[in-house]
Amino acid sequence: MRQNQHRFPFRSLQLSLRFVIPLAIALAILAYGVVPLVDGLTLRWAVRDMDIRSRLISNTLQEPLIELLQQGNHSRINALLLRTSKDERLLALGVCDQTDKLLFRTAAFPGELSCKAPDQSDSDPLHLVRLPQGPVHVTLNPLESEYSRIGSLVLVHDMSYMERRSADTRKYVIMLFAVLGVVISLITVFVAHLSWRGWMEGVRAMLRGEGILKPFTGPQQAPSSELQPLVGDLRALLRNLDAERRFADDSTITWSPESLRTLLHKQLVGERVIVVSNREPYIHLKKEGGIEVHRPASGLVTAVEPVMRACSGTWIAHGSGSADRETVDKHDRVRVPPDQPEYTLRRIWLTEEEEKGYYYGFSNEGLWPLCHIAHVRPVFRSSDWEQYVRINQRFADAVIEEADSDDPVVLVQDYHFALLPGMIRKALPKATIITFWHIPWPNPESFGICPWREELLKGMLGSTILGFHTPYHCKNFLETADRYLETRIEHESSTISRRGQLTMVESYPISIQWPPPWRGTLPPVEQTRSEILTDLGLPADQLLGIGVDRMDYTKGILERFNAVERLFELHPELAGRFTFIQIAAPSRSALEEYQAFEARVHTLAGRINNRFTHNGRPAIILKAEHHEPDQVNRYYRAAQVCMVTSLHDGMNLVAKEYVAARDDERGVLVLSQFTGAAHELHEALIVNPYHVEQTAEALYQALTMPEYEQRERMRSMRALVRDFNVYRWAGRMLLDAARVRQRQKLAARIGKES
Ligand code: F6P
Repeated sequence: MRQNQHRFPFRSLQLSLRFVIPLAIALAILAYGVVPLVDGLTLRWAVRDMDIRSRLISNTLQEPLIELLQQGNHSRINALLLRTSKDERLLALGVCDQTDKLLFRTAAFPGELSCKAPDQSDSDPLHLVRLPQGPVHVTLNPLESEYSRIGSLVLVHDMSYMERRSADTRKYVIMLFAVLGVVISLITVFVAHLSWRGWMEGVRAMLRGEGILKPFTGPQQAPSSELQPLVGDLRALLRNLDAERRFADDSTITWSPESLRTLLHKQLVGERVIVVSNREPYIHLKKEGGIEVHRPASGLVTAVEPVMRACSGTWIAHGSGSADRETVDKHDRVRVPPDQPEYTLRRIWLTEEEEKGYYYGFSNEGLWPLCHIAHVRPVFRSSDWEQYVRINQRFADAVIEEADSDDPVVLVQDYHFALLPGMIRKALPKATIITFWHIPWPNPESFGICPWREELLKGMLGSTILGFHTPYHCKNFLETADRYLETRIEHESSTISRRGQLTMVESYPISIQWPPPWRGTLPPVEQTRSEILTDLGLPADQLLGIGVDRMDYTKGILERFNAVERLFELHPELAGRFTFIQIAAPSRSALEEYQAFEARVHTLAGRINNRFTHNGRPAIILKAEHHEPDQVNRYYRAAQVCMVTSLHDGMNLVAKEYVAARDDERGVLVLSQFTGAAHELHEALIVNPYHVEQTAEALYQALTMPEYEQRERMRSMRALVRDFNVYRWAGRMLLDAARVRQRQKLAARIGKES
């Protein structure tokens, strides 16, 4: 770095010399051309002045001299000449007769002069005579009476002052030009230095990913106009390279655990990744028979877990299970998955009070309703915020502890950790921080009601890459950052620059593991269906619908039940023929809003069952308890229709899980238009869950859809989930991160060499 600092001015100086040398030559020519010119001009002006002056003196002396000459009064003539010669510039006077004989002369009259016009050198103007004692101005002025020429008056002016004046002028002109030259040189050196710095800064900024599409502005110097075309070319080149690489990556990579692993080894030189999330992938619980391991109902865990297994590394999460403390080592670490360990789970402990403020309070009573349009008002309390800050710092400290280099790759997950990227960045400025926001991002007005909006945004902008599910959420985020923070935003390249930190905001639609973990191990769909129907005490030809969610008001469970009820109203022949199974994992049940919601769900299911249970076959079976993924998978395979009716959802992985589960290419997905998944799974029956008839009709259409149509739709959706799987989601983020890291390293190297 120091070496860099020494070489940097040297490079600037070199650049400056290229400006200064031609400038100096130009100045020299100017000085040697201008000085004689000025000299000559001043001399001519002086001679002209002397001519006028001589004429004036001659005119004044004409009359008295002629009179005195005619009288022959020699003494008065001498006196007149003497008096006149007292003038400062007039050196001498002489009076000649008609024959050009010098009759009278003052004492200083030069012997070299006579009554004849002086010989002129080519270079001197008329009347200028160079004598050994110095230059003089000589004029012969005729003395004429009315009838004849009587003689002439010789006036000799001292011009030596002109020499002095010329020398002075020359000196001042040279001095002036010298000073001007120095000033211009200094300015040139300074400008060249700034241009070079600006240029280098610009190149480095571009390599970091900044300013690819925008002229350099802001704190660094703008490149000089002569460098602009080069800057433009470099930008275009980087942009093309980026686009080409992205395209090549996407079209040539078949995303799988292996390709993700290879990518990490190649592009990120075998970096171990550190994942941070609130929810842990494996929860150890104390049960009667001993300790049980649970897989939580969380889209985040569903997506990130296979990625971690592929990449290995450390996953830092809240240890929330009743047997979590008993299963970790002295560093709070445990290897998982328990039956075939592939990565490390590092648990962070929270007190009840901390969990209340950070998780239930700020995260789930504040940010969760703030980001979801589900008509539940967010609640913000200062005490919750304080816990949120404290716990974010605790997780940041754990990341720093777990990092084995000063530039780790950290994947920060979700709204529980908006401050974490900023905190990590402070401690590890070179870290590559990829933050993924698993829920929607609201528009600036909605987000603006959060009292700590600036702090949250600043924290998130500590990220290198900030990911959302959809371009729409990215757009909302860019607009929000623009509204509430001093930042430089480039919409075209989707980057935000704040205080020298650049964050790329990009959409990465999350997905699920493909091929599914159970592939080739499950019994045929028909067998699974008949087992489930038997378990539920339903006849073999009963039609089944399935919904799988956390018990959350954003999931549209009430709206879904209303649609089921409306289906029976519109198509009463289906009562007793169709049963809808709702799996609803308990979630955030410490919160009143969730308790009330769960109560409403139970009440509504009960009311509908009262109306439409037929021959002991219920309309709705509500299973409000935790189910492990393999159990859920069985229901997916057994049901003719899956309903995802979220009122607002980042992605919703249940939709994709259902599609993945149907290797028989049967079954229909009814999908809310307010999920991220609706932007990808176009062959689902897309509904507005607020529109009860429309949703009921879609449900009916699903139950009566011909098999060939089911196959067509399912096949197409399965192809999409296969290609756009979770390895692609993680891989694209890591590839982008690798690109940013490469650019930063290149920028640092250029910095060293400049
Ligand atoms: O789909 C992702 C998600 O909604 C997360 O945002 C959330 O953390 C998780 O599922 C489930 O919520 P919780 O962790 O509160 O149980």
